[in-house]
Amino acid sequence: MAILPVLRLGDPLLLQKASRVSEFDNPDLDNLIEDMFETMAAEEGVGLAAPQVGASLRIVIFGFEHNPRYPDSNGIPQTILINPEITPLSDEMENGWEGCLSVPGMRGLVSRHRHIRYTGFDPSGQPIEEEAEGFHARVVQHECDHLDGIIYTHRLCHPLKFGFTDELLQSGQLNSTDCL
Ligand code: NI
Repeated sequence: MAILPVLRLGDPLLLQKASRVSEFDNPDLDNLIEDMFETMAAEEGVGLAAPQVGASLRIVIFGFEHNPRYPDSNGIPQTILINPEITPLSDEMENGWEGCLSVPGMRGLVSRHRHIRYTGFDPSGQPIEEEAEGFHARVVQHECDHLDGIIYTHRLCHPLKFGFTDELLQSGQLNSTDCL
């Protein structure tokens, strides 16, 4: 187990399209996922995508019970999702403030589908199919974007709706209750 360095905005690896995982149920995959969970916990993230730790593979993890960076959010079940696909289940979009471990200390306002279905595989190759709404749906969309080289800053609702978390909170533009 190891805490891995998280790549930051500006690193070209974050802009690459990640490759599909073709071999399941193997120790290399399990070790990478273990390291991703350890890294996510150390950084107090609610989600992490493999490209953020320099592994250009279609793997995301997310989930938490309680998180100090998102004190008002309900928990999300801990999930490992490999080769994910997302299908919106309605046209309804929702704006919310997002942060990212690759863009430390900052938040931006992003529009996401409110209600989605996601599919993929667990590390043993078993299929996963779930529905998610609201914050949960937002986290899944944010993490899966990383697999296509998309950072939330590419999707800002408006260039002015972006800044350092502390300043946004102090000026009242951001309530801790409406953070991703
Ligand atoms: Ni991110």
